[in-house]
Amino acid sequence: MNQELWSGVDDYLGGLLTTSDPALEAALADSAAAGLPPISVAPNQGKFLALLARARGARRILEIGTLGGYSTIWLARALPAGGSLVSLELEERHAEVARANLDRAGVGAVAEVRVGPAVESMERLIEEGGPPFDFVFIDADKEGYPRYFELAMRLVAPGSLIVADNVVRNGEVADAASADERVRGVRRFLESVAEEPRVEATAIQTVGAKGYDGFALIVVR
Ligand code: SAH
Ligand code: DHB
Ligand code: MG
Repeated sequence: MNQELWSGVDDYLGGLLTTSDPALEAALADSAAAGLPPISVAPNQGKFLALLARARGARRILEIGTLGGYSTIWLARALPAGGSLVSLELEERHAEVARANLDRAGVGAVAEVRVGPAVESMERLIEEGGPPFDFVFIDADKEGYPRYFELAMRLVAPGSLIVADNVVRNGEVADAASADERVRGVRRFLESVAEEPRVEATAIQTVGAKGYDGFALIVVR
């Protein structure tokens, strides 16, 4: 582990490539001031998600796990005119901070935060029968990932992209004997992705300002 080196390289890369932005900075500052945990994606990861959504041409984005809306801002800004985003959050307090951050970033009208357990919100979205989502970002409680994937598969269409955060957890994901429910949740999620014939997937380890972790990338056939 060499966190100092990883953070230094993130600073270098971010200074060159990740457009600095007062609204994004303020979203992080206000999230911290409100006592939210500092577990948003890193700036270069937020931009990575936004570029994936752009490359996909995503018009409808679903996010599971809003926190203070930092990743939400990145994703909402990737939408074309007429696009929309729904972000699901358990905690009303997080959602309130997020809505203020989204408004300040100028995406409050296209990004909606729905409060409640994500499973219930996803079941509601299925019932509503709206158009499919073409980009889904899974980033809520890790124990829930298997169920979020299952429900996400009912909300997408061929060609949709599903990205999941935190699938490496300092390498603990490779420990089949882990007693950590979060690690077990991620492992069960990856196993169900591997067994799902309707998708093609990979997972990539990452290091940087947010430590050692990784993303899973899933394409719906
Ligand atoms: N995507 C955010 C970080 C999300 S942190 C970003 O990168 O900026 C995970 C969030 O998931 C937390 O706000 C937590 O309250 C929320 N969460 C936890 N359990 C949940 C559940 N069952 N349903 C919906 N959200 C949940
Ligand atoms: C945790 C959750 C996250 O979404 C993240 O990016 C980092 C850590 C956590 O629950 O510990
Ligand atoms: Mg995360």
